[in-house]
Amino acid sequence: MRVLGIETSCDETGVAVFDSKRGLLADILHSQADLHADYGGVVPELASRDHIRKLLPLLREVLSQAGLNKKDIDGIAYTGGPGLIGALLVGAAVGRSLAWALGKPAIAVHHMEGHLLSPLLEPNPPDFPFCALLISGGHTMLVTVNRIGAYQILGESLDDAVGEAFDKTAKLLQLGYPGGPALAKLAEQGNPDRFYFPRPMLDRPGLNFSFSGLKTYAFNTLHENGFAAAADIARAFQDAVVDTLTVKCRRALQQTGLNRLVVAGGVSANQALRQQLKAMGIQEDAQIYYPRLAFCTDNGAMIAFAGCQRLLAGEQTSSGFSVRARWPL
Ligand code: KG4
Ligand code: ZN
Repeated sequence: MRVLGIETSCDETGVAVFDSKRGLLADILHSQADLHADYGGVVPELASRDHIRKLLPLLREVLSQAGLNKKDIDGIAYTGGPGLIGALLVGAAVGRSLAWALGKPAIAVHHMEGHLLSPLLEPNPPDFPFCALLISGGHTMLVTVNRIGAYQILGESLDDAVGEAFDKTAKLLQLGYPGGPALAKLAEQGNPDRFYFPRPMLDRPGLNFSFSGLKTYAFNTLHENGFAAAADIARAFQDAVVDTLTVKCRRALQQTGLNRLVVAGGVSANQALRQQLKAMGIQEDAQIYYPRLAFCTDNGAMIAFAGCQRLLAGEQTSSGFSVRARWPL
């Protein structure tokens, strides 16, 4: 089965073709980062308009890169939520219209299921069941995955998502938008012994997270020490986040008795986190699985893949379309 995937939940227009026999045939990503940079964050209306401008030309291009005609497509997967409503509607309208015109099934994919399954696009994918840490700009979750569609949430953030905390702290340090990668880069130059930020909720049992306090801690430290301390603040912030995520992942593995951990979503690109999780994995005798770096952040390939699995299982989204700004996994 060949599935065309469309991702438009936020500020990336992602399109891809996944073939259940041959794997990923093509994928293209257009980032709107430059469009939103001046505003310090994603402007929903600008995001929707840009998806409208880019989506059809990108779909033509991805089909041509895959060496396919649109009639060769067996199904269409689009992100149905969670995300920005106007942005989601662009992908849903185009995806469903194309499916209707071609007489093929369409399926709305949960954006976080896309992230969750993205390491399955890599060589040596994890077997089911596994634990997953999903860390993006909008979500922070620990999940047990028994099979596709069978997810049990072990814990999630009670306030800011971890990517959101990175972006807000980066904004405070005047690192631009999106700030996560810039903050991670600055942290490399920081002195790890100058400041110590708290590790939120580690003193309590359970697998929930809370990251909004760290941004306040960063604000107060910046206020007391000035911008000359920016790299040391970035380092203290990142160390606190990485420690917290690592401890909770260890707990999740111990609690579930599983020895496979998937880490996905934009923040899974963070190298300091990967290093610390690697050491934890060795101690716990657990294998850790990531998407390739390009698929840590939003992309069409993960939507094409997740949609293909659901369509192969006989599911489809019935006609008429709705998208969801919020949608539990
Ligand atoms: O998964 P994603 O592309 O979009 C959402 O579904 O939200 O994740 C984007 C988030 C942003 O908050 C971005 O700052 C963060 O991932 N991010 C990083 C890194 N690369 C992306 N955070 C920390 N370190 C990175 N290297
Ligand atoms: Zn995402």
